[in-house]
Amino acid sequence: MQVKSFFLALLLVFSPVVLAESSNTLREVKREKLTMLGVPLPQREGETEEQQVYIEQGKYLVELLGCASCHTDGVLRGAPDMERQLAGSSVGIALANPTEVARPAVAFPSNITPDNETGIGRRTDEQLHLAIRHGIVPGGASQLPIMPWPVYAGLTDDDLRSIVAYLRAIKPVRHKVPAAVKRGQKHPFDYVYFGIYYSDRSMLEEDPLP
Ligand code: HEC
Repeated sequence: MQVKSFFLALLLVFSPVVLAESSNTLREVKREKLTMLGVPLPQREGETEEQQVYIEQGKYLVELLGCASCHTDGVLRGAPDMERQLAGSSVGIALANPTEVARPAVAFPSNITPDNETGIGRRTDEQLHLAIRHGIVPGGASQLPIMPWPVYAGLTDDDLRSIVAYLRAIKPVRHKVPAAVKRGQKHPFDYVYFGIYYSDRSMLEEDPLP
């Protein structure tokens, strides 16, 4: 009995140390990997070691979750503008069936660099958390229809903190994206259709397949 409680006490004393050790090792490995890939990490003067770890983790998450595939100009045309990474897209996205809707509603992925006028510079952390995890934007009539926030709903507070730390650390780019267009309105800008369209073969007049 005494031996048992001794081991229990030992475990309680050492487990936080072991956990802290393993998360430090994880960070080291991550840092090494990023350096190996030659990815230039954003760095600002006066950043603490802790902030730097959050920024690195945020960069990893933003790349993994494909934020740039919508939020960078040119990607939707197949020619990303690397000077304007994450600075918003002037090609919009319509979430509609092109064979059914002639003039769909179109949204333009926002500039998510920290520019004060055209980007997220003036958004609070709380507002950014709401936008990323719940699709709610200040002044927005409804939840973002195109941004895949339901996929991001499972992000932990720590993940969100990392993503926001990274977005605030990248270069601010002045780039105003067009305002969203309502369904039925004339479209002054280019856009792509997103979605999966079901084809009911029994409805086809002629079966195109042999
Ligand atoms: C499928 C395309 C798509 C992807 C992927 C995507 N977004 Fe978005 N996002 C949008 C669109 C479109 C809007 C603007 C919608 C509108 O204005 O109605 C938006 C809006 C936002 C906003 C709100 C900006 C503001 O004005 O406050 C933030 C923040 C944001 N996205 C962050 C992210 C982050 C971070 C990721 C990756 C984790 C991401 N988005 C991935 C399409 C996307």
